[in-house]
Amino acid sequence: MLGLCFHTKKLSGRVKISGSKNAALPILAATLLTDEKCVIRNVPDLEDVRITFALLRKMGKRIKFENNTVEVKGRLRNGALPEKLVRKLRASVLVMGPVLSRLGEGSFALPGGCALGERPIDIHLKGLKAMGASYSVLRGRMLFRNQRLKGAHIKLSFPSVGATENLLMAASCASGVSLIENAAVEPEIIDLCRFLKAMGASIKSAGSSYTVSGSPVLGGADFTVMPDRIEAGTFILAAAAVGGKVRIDGAEPDHLKALIKKLKASGVKINEKANSLIIIPPKITKPINIITGPYPEFPTDLQPLWAVYMLRAAGVSRIKDKIFPARFMYVDELKRLGAAMALKNAVLVINKSILSGTNLRACDLRAASAMIIAGLMADGQTRVYELRHLFRGYENFFGKLRKLGANVSMEKVKK
Ligand code: UD1
Repeated sequence: MLGLCFHTKKLSGRVKISGSKNAALPILAATLLTDEKCVIRNVPDLEDVRITFALLRKMGKRIKFENNTVEVKGRLRNGALPEKLVRKLRASVLVMGPVLSRLGEGSFALPGGCALGERPIDIHLKGLKAMGASYSVLRGRMLFRNQRLKGAHIKLSFPSVGATENLLMAASCASGVSLIENAAVEPEIIDLCRFLKAMGASIKSAGSSYTVSGSPVLGGADFTVMPDRIEAGTFILAAAAVGGKVRIDGAEPDHLKALIKKLKASGVKINEKANSLIIIPPKITKPINIITGPYPEFPTDLQPLWAVYMLRAAGVSRIKDKIFPARFMYVDELKRLGAAMALKNAVLVINKSILSGTNLRACDLRAASAMIIAGLMADGQTRVYELRHLFRGYENFFGKLRKLGANVSMEKVKK
């Protein structure tokens, strides 16, 4: 599939935000902590979610998915994570915590690198080892010896989102109390904690620490996933970059404070309501620098979209990514559109640019949405290839953009 984008003068209207991908994935992994039925609502219909279903099925679960509600039933039988699924979905490492705390043993294919750069899992493994897990590596797999996990005092070397989630799940069914310090506090992790508590887990959080009292097994739960703050940020930045008044419904403004602050500094008017935001872009955009960091700092996932927005700013702006310092693979593609961007010592320098449409190749999920929005700003026609990256993480992206008046469509790639 490829995306066809034509120059669009302005966006207008309303867009409804779907459930959060990055909350749904760990919550689905957490269903492995019980053999009782779980019902999870507001689950976005996306490729990454469907891969997670395949993974859960491999481990013994039965899945029914209808109207964004998933029912997960069945006993956790198998603790082996196949390489094919790990390669398709990095977040599949999130089943390690639940599997080891339930079964005591497991075998997981080692994850490889990805388009965002090196993606180690040393912080996950150090935490699991502190809880008593031990493993050896054989033919690309980690083989964990049978060992009941026990509560531990763990201080993360960096507040990794995935490691925090893995360890919270592992600690929920370990024996005894765990204290996890210097942990991540992203809203998706708070949503996972709410789900774990609904299953009967005992978790207390204070600042960047979590105290978890383990119980041998958790119960089923009925839960609704939080709105996707990255999808909301994507449509906010689409409105700011292309222009036009847009209303974002179903978003949680509290989760978007860092973005809203920077947008306001650039001149965007934002009308915040309890569950919606109205975005009114300025006539002249001021250049604003961003540095990404762990929540509540500016999210790395919105960095490529901020770069596209800054192409209309009257002056020079800069981006530094503290989370994924090499997350600038999209820059050479945007340059093909005429974007005046350059990387200097891992800092992206952006100048005001007039864009003209051409063929682009998406390299990862957020780069894909950034390129499509850049395509709407460019004169003429832009073709974005490798759309599979987009389907991993956005529900009905083209339908939602079209509803806002964007001139976009999808086409099959001719062989
Ligand atoms: C999650 C999000 C992703 C987001 C990222 C940062 C999901 C499914 N994905 O990814 O969209 O961009 O948070 O907000 O929720 N690191 C290590 N060792 C580890 C783990 C991480 O060095 O064991 C490093 C990573 O290479 C990276 C940084 O820590 O440089 C942040 O990674 P992490 O917070 O773990 O991100 P993910 O959970 O993979």
